[in-house]
Amino acid sequence: PVEQRVESLMSQMTLEEKIGQMCQYVAPLHIEESKKRIKGEELIHNDQWGLYPGMSADSLRSLVKEGEIGSFLHVKDAKEANELQKLAQATRLKIPLLIGIDAIHGHAMIEGSTVFPTQLGLSSSWDNELLYEVAKATAKEVRATGMHWTFSPNVDVARDPRWGRCGETFGEDPFMVTQMGLAFTNGYQGDFGEDNVLACAKHFIAGSEPYNGTNASPMDASMRQLREIWLPPYKAQAEAEVFTFMAAHNELNGIPCHSNKMLLNDILREEWGYDGFVVSDWMDIERIEKLHHVAGSPKEAIQLSVDAGMDMHMHGPNFLKPLAELVRNGNIDENKINESCRKILTAKFMLGLFENPFVDEGSAAKELYSQQHQELGVEAARKSIILLKNDGLLPFSDQKKILITGPNANNHRLMGDWALPQPEDKITTIYEGFKQVFSDAQVDFVNSGESLRNPDAAALDAAIAQARGYDAIVVAVGSNSLRYEKYEKNCGENVGRSTINLMGNQLELIKRLYEINKNIVIVLVNGRPLSEPWIKENIPAIIEAWEPGSFGGLAIAEIVKGDVNPSGKLTMTFPQHVGQVPMVYNQKPSVFFHKYIDSPSKPLWHFGYGLSYTQFEFSDLQLSASEIAPEDQVSIAVTITNTGDQAGDEIAQLYIRDEVSSVTRPVKELKGYQRISLAPQESKQVVFELVADDLAFYDIDMNYVVEQGSFKIMVGASSADEDLLTTNLELTQSKSMNK
Ligand code: IFM
Repeated sequence: PVEQRVESLMSQMTLEEKIGQMCQYVAPLHIEESKKRIKGEELIHNDQWGLYPGMSADSLRSLVKEGEIGSFLHVKDAKEANELQKLAQATRLKIPLLIGIDAIHGHAMIEGSTVFPTQLGLSSSWDNELLYEVAKATAKEVRATGMHWTFSPNVDVARDPRWGRCGETFGEDPFMVTQMGLAFTNGYQGDFGEDNVLACAKHFIAGSEPYNGTNASPMDASMRQLREIWLPPYKAQAEAEVFTFMAAHNELNGIPCHSNKMLLNDILREEWGYDGFVVSDWMDIERIEKLHHVAGSPKEAIQLSVDAGMDMHMHGPNFLKPLAELVRNGNIDENKINESCRKILTAKFMLGLFENPFVDEGSAAKELYSQQHQELGVEAARKSIILLKNDGLLPFSDQKKILITGPNANNHRLMGDWALPQPEDKITTIYEGFKQVFSDAQVDFVNSGESLRNPDAAALDAAIAQARGYDAIVVAVGSNSLRYEKYEKNCGENVGRSTINLMGNQLELIKRLYEINKNIVIVLVNGRPLSEPWIKENIPAIIEAWEPGSFGGLAIAEIVKGDVNPSGKLTMTFPQHVGQVPMVYNQKPSVFFHKYIDSPSKPLWHFGYGLSYTQFEFSDLQLSASEIAPEDQVSIAVTITNTGDQAGDEIAQLYIRDEVSSVTRPVKELKGYQRISLAPQESKQVVFELVADDLAFYDIDMNYVVEQGSFKIMVGASSADEDLLTTNLELTQSKSMNK
């Protein structure tokens, strides 16, 4: 019936009304707010590029009444959503609006929501079920505010820590990104019921290893690199029927992704049979002309993009009329418009918006930050935090006087990017978390200066002067991804760096504190891998918290106290030095055949690494068969024992290596992971299943094959050689896998 309803509606629509469905605008209140906030030079830049010069909030509202807008993004709340839907109901065909938002780790762009750890933090839990629940909870909060679509998951494979958006990803491994992306999409979309939203696989593609580390700079990638690293998570999304894709800002091999027919049509539609719709990213159709210079006019840019396969234009005006002209002049086939409109209307029917486009304005108060979501937020924060080093200082035992300091110790930077300011009472800062958890100790906070870009030397001196006489000092350092904060962000969207050390005077703060007191715990609150080898060498305890969300401060304090046993593991390699970038665990064999003369050739921290307060032992690695044919499956079993005296969670990781192959293969590839809980002295067997497809790769002619021969099977607690048990598996025949 949805198809019939769509066709019947489309038969009544004019060309302009159909194109209107392809137009997405920023919501009026957001535009008004942004115009107030953005000043001077930046405003000129933004007026040219996006903030609707000459348009007021009211003129935007008039466009809705004229049927020229099919979708909005960044609507403020349920009230604005309902007001806009009311305007849409006044149009000839009463087509409801589809409202999208960046709810990428909770509905954090909305005040009063549950902010979960960022994707990179969540990935460190290695817990797909947890991620599914987080996405489901997020969807519920989004729907409660009258919105229907989240621009998430980000299934970019992050391979460059200079890139500010690492925190928005599930890390550096394509297999993991694939699994976690699916958990998110399934959690969001469910069966498209009233608590579900459309998901969006973004950004298609390869923007996460940009040329110089800065967002949107070019990517030049071989077809092999594309097929092996970047495309698999997106292919899985297409197969799982994610409803939307978003194109990437960057060019790929000389062609902007927004006008890239090979990507948007040949691979996505023709090869993968994708049936959903593609939305552009913010002003990127315009940039086909203005930035990339592959179109001579805005109209030509629209033609290139729509012709390549773009279905919806995010953010800007001046799309509808030029596109209608292009169709009338025969430069764009009207069927393309019909296709795009059909998919967008299908989404609206499936979500039930034709039955009821409005939301009960009371539901946000019930659903946002509900008790259940708070509990999930606490669990997610606890599971995503990683213990990197512990020389015995943790957990605290009899510390009675604790000092909390550092630029990230008592503010909302725990939230990460894509979050608007949240009410004070809905976020537990690190200092507040310690006060709660160590209620029988003296917990003091001293401000050492919060700005990372313009360090405050006087504040640092004052902090050092007050730091004597404590049993231990907890120093929260890292980066700042917050939008709309008094200190400029130095991580997150559009914030690239040419270095990956601690900014400003943070290292100086740590070193000066260390002169006073050796009992220091470093807590990293950061959105991308940061590298300070001195800290690793000298400081007795280091915790990587990423950006753990509303309950981060609580979870960190619980871990320091030992109420929670840390269990997260890294999903990005930490280089020792920016010059080692790209540094990933699944490197090719010849990387570091010759070593650096001025830097180690090993990472600072390995992919998959993380400590616990208990100890785990892996033993008895066994295969169900030592030889398999391509049709067979093999079980890989390992026993894990908690040899310590505390309960804890361990994450078992399965890697493979093709020993001899017709093209070079990575030294390790992750093929499975499982999180298990073990009581003290308890043992459990973990079993992974492996099929021939897991051993496949693209051969010299780019055929997807498995090749007969020996594979190294590695199972253990991290990707570091010393943490892995190994055995061998023989594949008895080669076979084309037809992919
Ligand atoms: O969804 C985002 C995207 O990731 C970056 N540019 C803006 C979009 C909408 O906010």
